[in-house]
Amino acid sequence: MAAELPQAVYVQADLALEADRVRLVREAIAAWGQLDVLVNNAGISKVIPHGDLAAATSAVWHELHEVNVVAPFHLVALAESALREAARCRRAGCVVNISSHAGVRPKGASIPYAVSKAALNHLTRLLALSLGPDIRVNAVAPGLVDTPLTADWTAAQALWRERAPMRRAASPDDIAHAVLMLVASDYLTGEVLLSDGGLNLT
Ligand SMILES: NC(=O)c1ccc[n+]([C@@H]2O[C@H](COP(=O)([O-])OP(=O)(O)OC[C@H]3O[C@@H](n4cnc5c(N)ncnc54)[C@H](OP(=O)(O)O)[C@@H]3O)[C@@H](O)[C@H]2O)c1
Repeated sequence: MAAELPQAVYVQADLALEADRVRLVREAIAAWGQLDVLVNNAGISKVIPHGDLAAATSAVWHELHEVNVVAPFHLVALAESALREAARCRRAGCVVNISSHAGVRPKGASIPYAVSKAALNHLTRLLALSLGPDIRVNAVAPGLVDTPLTADWTAAQALWRERAPMRRAASPDDIAHAVLMLVASDYLTGEVLLSDGGLNLT
């Protein structure tokens, strides 16, 4: 990927750490002199059967919440003034959160994961309400995507092949395309775009 995007800048950061979030936004703005779009894609999951309540420990809840909810919120807060500046000079600043269908339907790798993504969807709507018209905030909620995270999720892969109207999991490019649609749509804010090949219809 780095070879395909020679003009890109890469900053390593652990988003569970507040100091790293601050450094990430500072270095992005230092590199480009402006910040127009923030995509909160990094996320973690934990596979725990929903009935196994004991396995969903406080440590699991805190870890998922910090990376999947607190970090996206904090990054928006850190980027807010640069995104407002984008609105003054060009067009509304734009945030896209990568959530999950597990935050919309009562499903997903585990209860703590699904709840963290439901929280991210609600955060998306709350921020859209607070930050407009300078900053638009939307989310893409993927169903199953072929990535390293899901490489061994054979039951989910079979479900999408057999039941989803599109008969396959999404590719990362499918999700990137949905993100670009939201970035390009100047009037959309507070939307959670389900991108699950239609599985939610079944
Ligand atoms: N794959 C799916 O089916 C699916 C479905 C619905 C939603 N999603 C969401 O889509 C997003 C991308 O997931 P993916 O499938 O691409 O998962 P993935 O293959 O596991 O990749 C997750 C990415 O997040 C980064 N990350 C995790 N914790 C981080 C932290 N503390 N600080 C900085 N970066 C961190 C990882 O970096 P490292 O590699 O350096 O750890 C990796 O680049 C996530 O928000 C996930 O919840 C995925």
